[in-house]
Amino acid sequence: MDHFRYIDGALHAEGVPLVALADEVGTPAYVYSTATLSRHYQVFREALQAQGPALGRSLIAFAVKANSNLSVLATLGRLGAGADTVSEGEIRRALAAGIPADRIIFSGVGKTDAELAFALETGVRQINVESGPELERLERIAEAVGIRPDIAIRVNPGVGAGGHAKITTGGGGDKFGVPVEEALSLYARAAANGRVRPVGLACHIGSQILDLAPLRDAFGVLADMTRRLRADVHSVRVLDLGGGLGVPYEPGLTPPDPATYAAMVGKAMAGLDVDTVFEPGRLLVANAGVLLARVIHVNVRPDGRRFLVLDAAMNDLMRPALYDAFHPLLPVTDEGRAEGLYDVVGPVCETGDTFARDRLLPELRAGDLVAFKGAGAYGAAMASEYNSRPLVPEVLVDGDRFAVVRPRPDYAAMLERETVAPWLAD
Ligand code: LLP
Repeated sequence: MDHFRYIDGALHAEGVPLVALADEVGTPAYVYSTATLSRHYQVFREALQAQGPALGRSLIAFAVKANSNLSVLATLGRLGAGADTVSEGEIRRALAAGIPADRIIFSGVGKTDAELAFALETGVRQINVESGPELERLERIAEAVGIRPDIAIRVNPGVGAGGHAKITTGGGGDKFGVPVEEALSLYARAAANGRVRPVGLACHIGSQILDLAPLRDAFGVLADMTRRLRADVHSVRVLDLGGGLGVPYEPGLTPPDPATYAAMVGKAMAGLDVDTVFEPGRLLVANAGVLLARVIHVNVRPDGRRFLVLDAAMNDLMRPALYDAFHPLLPVTDEGRAEGLYDVVGPVCETGDTFARDRLLPELRAGDLVAFKGAGAYGAAMASEYNSRPLVPEVLVDGDRFAVVRPRPDYAAMLERETVAPWLAD
């Protein structure tokens, strides 16, 4: 459930009419709803709590990559969320948003020496090690810094899943994690060397997962490995189960609800006596954000094809171009106009800059406002300035108030970041 709804024919984010917001902030703009963020977090939290002791103490570490806006992170952090991070930049963002280091997980296939040293000095809760060479580097750096970090080995369980091949991570041929047998020997090696403290196992098999079966299989692999490691007298006290649960982007799409997911996890973890970590990204933020845009004009071809040209483009919301992703498009003012088919496009000079083909929409005209739903995850976070379009501003709504939490840079600010090489300056 989200808090974007029509009141008297006008689309609102909570108590704020999007028409008024667009007048003040301009378009395109990302708009996030605090009430929706809070609700998604609470629903997930309660679903986990309902499993009682089976999940041990559980941490919800929000996957910062999904939405790294400081106000979004601060909103979730205040509710008790930790952060799953994959770069020094993300760790710094989580800290800046007030998320304490002991709730920060550091994941990622290619952490540099400098990033590992930074994570150690910051005192993050856990580093998820994704390969043998990474373990060696981390051991060397940990010894040099004089800190013995808690680590988990990220397992590649050979079970991939997800809404698109480009976001499937757990398959045997994917670059992520360590295959089972190798993970067991890395765990033993790390324990024997004593420079890091192996506390558990991690996995993340993909994103926008709509079927619990592959997740259940992957968690079964982790449970078996836990038993095998313990049989070799290793301590395993944490299982990090990643993120990946899908969201209903479109009507008719019915991902498992958090309670069903949690019940499956409760069963998979039963009797293991471990603490759990969850790394949801999309689940918490996707439907808590919209991308607000304005129609520049409607270009009608002689054959009748109608291009709805928006002031938002693929650089602002990449998901349709990159993954053929579907995002519902809502008119901001619902006047009950007749419907027709449109190709919804942006101004960027690529055919890939197409949000939707043959989309049934109420009749729209130049100047009308529209909103892409499901844009809170992997929207602003993946935006670029391609075609020298300044980054889209981000706005956080809370009840009747809103704040521009990332302003639109002006052109001067965009150009000031660069210099002309001295030999070209005169
Ligand atoms: N944990 C790890 C280690 C991850 O790599 C990811 C996402 C997550 C957690 C969060 O997954 P989620 O709960 O959001 O599914 N840009 C793509 C999605 C890429 C996901 C990458 N990893 C998209 O727009 O669909």
